[in-house]
Amino acid sequence: MTKIPENPAERLMFEISKPGRRCVTFPALDVPEVDVDVALKGVKLRSEPARLPEIGELDLVRHFKNLADKNYSVDKNFYPLGSCTMKYNPKINVTLLAQPGYTKAHPYLPEADVQGHLELMYNLEHYLCEVSGLDEVTLQPAAGAHGELTGVMCIKAYFEDKGEADQRTEILIPSAAHGTNPATAAMAGFKAVTLKEAANGNIDIEELKKKVGPQTAGMMITNPSTLGILEPKMREIAEILHGVGAQLYMDGANMNAISGIVQPGDYGIDVMHFNLHKTFSVPHGGGGPGAGPIAVRKHLAPYLPTPRVKKNDDGSFSFDYNRPKTVGKVRSFFGNFGALVMAYIYMTQLGREGVRRMSQNAVLGANYIRVMLRDYYHVHHDRTNAHEVVFTDLKQDKENGVHTLDIAKRLIDYGIHPMTVYFPLPQNTGGQGAMMVEPTETESKESIDYFIDCMKKIAQECKDNPELVKTAPHTTPVSKVDEKTASTNPQLYCAMCLG
Ligand SMILES: Cc1ncc(COP(=O)(O)O)c(C=O)c1O
Repeated sequence: MTKIPENPAERLMFEISKPGRRCVTFPALDVPEVDVDVALKGVKLRSEPARLPEIGELDLVRHFKNLADKNYSVDKNFYPLGSCTMKYNPKINVTLLAQPGYTKAHPYLPEADVQGHLELMYNLEHYLCEVSGLDEVTLQPAAGAHGELTGVMCIKAYFEDKGEADQRTEILIPSAAHGTNPATAAMAGFKAVTLKEAANGNIDIEELKKKVGPQTAGMMITNPSTLGILEPKMREIAEILHGVGAQLYMDGANMNAISGIVQPGDYGIDVMHFNLHKTFSVPHGGGGPGAGPIAVRKHLAPYLPTPRVKKNDDGSFSFDYNRPKTVGKVRSFFGNFGALVMAYIYMTQLGREGVRRMSQNAVLGANYIRVMLRDYYHVHHDRTNAHEVVFTDLKQDKENGVHTLDIAKRLIDYGIHPMTVYFPLPQNTGGQGAMMVEPTETESKESIDYFIDCMKKIAQECKDNPELVKTAPHTTPVSKVDEKTASTNPQLYCAMCLG
């Protein structure tokens, strides 16, 4: 068979570099030449030019276009990354955000010139009050973890105000919690105390009663949990915490399962955060800007960051900086304003009923996947789940020596982004590798069915040809990499660049 010649457009820039080749050529110098060493006296200059690839403009364009085409995104295909809510973000969000009224607004503009912006923030705060069932919201935190920190700082300020700060040194956190929860507690100066879950994945009430006490400042609970399980005893948990004068923080990163269905304030929480970049369709991934507003009950409102947006008696809006008990600013200006605009557009478009259906469909999709795949993969908690479902590699590991990572990589060959793997941690999934799948409500039944068919096919491949799965992916420019060595002994250089 004749070998297909190597396409230069697919090669590295360094490989196609030719000395003297340029994207642009400059006209001859028409001003006196200066000596760089003299002009930049005192600046450390390199002794020889950087070794950069020398290529023409078309080669450059093709290089980046081909790289961009290799990118994966939810716009391209199914992206069931559990715990990340990779839902489709409607294009109208960015189209409207691109209006000059938003893109050209400077945060130092006088209040009178940004009345519409203030009104948007005011309304969004009220939408989130409505979804949370709590009294006040700040939009300032820039991410979920940042919201956690802001919320726990408010709890701390509350106890300082009551003169109980020295006594209340602990925050209780279930062991399956997202890693940001214990990190937040520690950053805010508390000791994170772990609570083991009951066998069914819910909070163990007896364990909670044992660990709670006058030293407890609060508990951080994620509902639904990172195992995709709803906590049925929220009210009882809140009563136990409040019984010792402690506060209940709810990590609301998984609000895609319950928005518009229950108001967490009803079951007694004191403070929670939202991940607008998950639940309310702000694009994320690659660390892009998000927003982690927090909602609080009245008694914590005095501690919220400044400024607060307020509506005046004449119907105008202004910033209120006069908040003597505030924890201060947690973000420059007013938060990631663009993210707030996108979430506002999304919520306005959906309306109350739409938000409820969003959550119902997210939960329906995840349960459908669980039921359709339960005979093929072990389900960590095979019970009605929330917006996501956790499978493990128990069957494939025991029967065929195939593991979670292999299955996840094989999905790439079918054009699907791998699910979240090994989270929850093996210690929370019976020692087996977790595969956490979150379809979100934006996927059609057809694309969910395609995922299910691929997963069934991979389960069969594990039996018939385990090597095929273990060596996947087979359709990508780079096949399986040694991830352990890559993270424990990274070689962060390019041999060709070194010359
Ligand atoms: C349960 C939970 N808590 C907190 C976070 C942290 O949010 P962020 O990544 O925006 O800081 C996440 C992130 O996905 C999460 O899933």
